[in-house]
Amino acid sequence: HNHIYYQNGQLQMEGVAVSELAKQYGTPLYLYSSSVIADNFNAYKNAAKSIPTMVCYAIKANSNLAILQALAKLGAGFDIVSGGELQRVLQAGGDASKVVFSGVGKTADEMALALEAGVHCFNVESDAELSLLSRVASQRGDTARISLRVNPDVDPKTHPYISTGLRDNKFGITFEQAPAVYQRAAGLPGIEIVGVDCHIGSQLTELAPFNDAVDRLLELIAELKAQGISLEHIDMGGGLGINYSGSEAPPTKSSYLAALESKLANTGLSLILEPGRSIVGDAGVLVTQVQYLKPTAHKNFAIVDAAMNDNIRPALYQAEQRIVSVTETSDAPVQTWDLVGPVCESADFIGKDRPLALTAGDYLAQLDAGAYCFGMASNYNTRARAAEVLIAGDDHWLVRERETFADLIRGEHLLP
Ligand code: LLP
Repeated sequence: HNHIYYQNGQLQMEGVAVSELAKQYGTPLYLYSSSVIADNFNAYKNAAKSIPTMVCYAIKANSNLAILQALAKLGAGFDIVSGGELQRVLQAGGDASKVVFSGVGKTADEMALALEAGVHCFNVESDAELSLLSRVASQRGDTARISLRVNPDVDPKTHPYISTGLRDNKFGITFEQAPAVYQRAAGLPGIEIVGVDCHIGSQLTELAPFNDAVDRLLELIAELKAQGISLEHIDMGGGLGINYSGSEAPPTKSSYLAALESKLANTGLSLILEPGRSIVGDAGVLVTQVQYLKPTAHKNFAIVDAAMNDNIRPALYQAEQRIVSVTETSDAPVQTWDLVGPVCESADFIGKDRPLALTAGDYLAQLDAGAYCFGMASNYNTRARAAEVLIAGDDHWLVRERETFADLIRGEHLLP
């Protein structure tokens, strides 16, 4: 990305040198470029030309309040999956009327909270959930606007753990059952049918599965129309991939939108999208410092201070995110290194077999760490979660303090 680049051998994010921030805030450290986030969001917004489109950022990708605030200011809606995420939207100044509420396990309390806030739509994932929502809404004298999440049974050709639209997945209502569930919804108190949604998976690098999914949803919409149920919107979920390896070519936002708009032309439907990764993924880096070098006859290990608790993607999905030196100039020879963390697990690595010139004390940056990295961080091994800094031009703000030991034991009690 042109906001993350080298200048005189120093990695820069916007107008700020990464090494300066590493020294100021310590490592491991998450840095985010607000310009990249804005560019990504605006690319969706500007690509939507002929169909009214609401871009609802999927908060789970990165839920830092300052990032939500920045997106809210740009006019973003939000895709939430919990009451906690709804509270984050409200705390960050987001507009509840632009919120869609996804997730297979919404509780009655979360439904009530979302009705109280006035969310745009509940993306209902089962017949049983529909019953509960009808009960919660009608007891409050409220009406829940709903979409059914339909499982279009298309193969997104991504990692199995992040495929969601196959019949083996727990998500959504099967294509076959959907018309009957819509019919039942039409007769339920406290329910207003407004849309249909799907989310077929994440990190998609081809358009074809999206096109197949929209075709299937349009078939369903036509069938419903014939039965007297007409919808306002179609929500295609998230899923557009990013270029992790440097050589992948995921569809651009504009080509994706162009494909959708041509399919939706003359349907009268508006469009909702729930992108997460493609908004924040390439806006973030994880900065880590090399603690020790441990070469062996068989392998070279570099022990770094970022671990699987900071970024679990390599362990969980065999994800490969590029790792670069923060300062390019090094006297050390380039060798092949496994970059491992201090956690007591063999799956604790941030990268394997990486050619790098390393000296203990060097800073490294793991790229494309804006999505599903901090958000999935844990306190495993009683490790504090990292600090997060948001950069805008020459300015930067600490938007999350590094956790302290006191934070880690908050709410724990010794026996009397
Ligand atoms: N909408 C729904 C209903 C979702 O389940 C998701 C992501 C999104 C939108 C946003 O998808 P995106 O645009 O970010 O692909 N932790 C995994 C990714 C899990 C995605 C879960 N659902 C990873 O690190 O790759």
